[in-house]
Amino acid sequence: MLNAESLKEAKTRDIATLLHPYANLKGHQTEGPMVITEGDGVFVRDENGKSYIEALAGLWCVSLGFSNRRLAEAAYRQMLKLPYYHTFASKAHDVGIELAEKLLGIAPVPMSKVFFVNSGSEANDTVVKLVWYYNNALGRPQKKKILSRMKAYHGVTVASASLTGLPNNHRDFDLPIANVLHVDCPHWYRFGQAGESEEAFATRMADSLEQRILSEGPGTVAAMIAEPVMGAGGAIFPPATYWEKVQPVLKKYDVMLIADEVISGFGRTGNMWGTTTYGLKPDMISCAKALSSGYLPIAALMISEEIYAALVKESEKIGVFAHGFTYSGHPVTSAVALETLKIYEEIDILSHVRRVTPRFQAGLLRFQDHPLVGEARGIGLIGAVELVADKATKAPFDPKAGIGGYLAKRGHEHGIIVRAMGDVIAFCPPLIIQDDEIDMMFERFGRALDDTLEMVSERRLQGTV
Ligand SMILES: Cc1ncc(COP(=O)(O)O)c(C=O)c1O
Repeated sequence: MLNAESLKEAKTRDIATLLHPYANLKGHQTEGPMVITEGDGVFVRDENGKSYIEALAGLWCVSLGFSNRRLAEAAYRQMLKLPYYHTFASKAHDVGIELAEKLLGIAPVPMSKVFFVNSGSEANDTVVKLVWYYNNALGRPQKKKILSRMKAYHGVTVASASLTGLPNNHRDFDLPIANVLHVDCPHWYRFGQAGESEEAFATRMADSLEQRILSEGPGTVAAMIAEPVMGAGGAIFPPATYWEKVQPVLKKYDVMLIADEVISGFGRTGNMWGTTTYGLKPDMISCAKALSSGYLPIAALMISEEIYAALVKESEKIGVFAHGFTYSGHPVTSAVALETLKIYEEIDILSHVRRVTPRFQAGLLRFQDHPLVGEARGIGLIGAVELVADKATKAPFDPKAGIGGYLAKRGHEHGIIVRAMGDVIAFCPPLIIQDDEIDMMFERFGRALDDTLEMVSERRLQGTV
């Protein structure tokens, strides 16, 4: 805990020195940061010693909570043994090999090789490069376009931000790059037509995808990347039959599928992979976040044998496969990831997630009746509440009203940190969350939601209130 003087100083120093990701830079200059100083289980504490339940596990990542000693000890042990080595030029280390084996062992569909990187963005950047390299290797230089979906989130580097389907990630950054195309967002609540069933909506999505591939020319479309459940775009879950209708279209035109499991991997949806939950058959899988419980930055891209074989063929022709990062497969991050996977096994994280899921989902769905809530939705231990100005017409609030942001701030008051993505409030707590903590999380959220309703009513911002 910081005393009043050092607290003031921390805020001032922050404003003077830090450029914050995903912050309102102007507002930050006056308001300054919320300084978090420690964590314990599903809770974190701020500089005043106030405790908050972390309803988003940090940034969808701290699956084992904020005080797992084994992960700290695994890092320490590895630091003492081999603090750094790389995997360039055919070098290797034992933890990297073991981690790759472990990942391939739990992959949801047969995968051949693992490429380690440091972030989800780097994993998806690598996806783009491999899709292009693969098609060059096969002598198909025209087959380069990559499909992504509106509201998808795949990262912020130049290529991965291009895959991301959110306007703020493109506007004024001069993105997206060429050869990235955005197709429909499969959110039935938002984009379903009046009277259209979930299944009919899914059919329309698949038809529209096929039309897009045909109009672009199937010979130019190489891949589609998708999150099994869409996270940062607003925790959006595919409508029934979506994947069973979309995948045959991709197959028909020889368009590979890449599953971005950065959020959904490692138990979040009740199975080890979202791919399993939704019956996907991807050719590549990117994962990160819960791979190390967020304790150290590590991500991985798994690729199929077919893709690997093409890379080898190309390398045979041109020599070195010139891609990789200084910290690709860093031994310390690898050791922590390995320990994380061992812990998942030992505590049987999947059984735990499945046991607490009904309580989490029931708690979430109770908000469906709240006057501010258009849709409460979720699967496993991930969900969202979408706030609307009019429940009947689903009309959103004017973004300038900042309703979601207001709710998040009221949440701080009530001891909960939630993430507002516009007016969608996401829940993605540490996987180790217990029943009583789930109740506490929703109870605190409910108070913040009621405060928000009060403000909305006072300012007459909602048609039906
Ligand atoms: C599905 C998905 N893909 C990729 C990323 C990018 O990961 P990173 O922030 O580690 O670059 C994220 C981050 O939230 C994500 O949710």
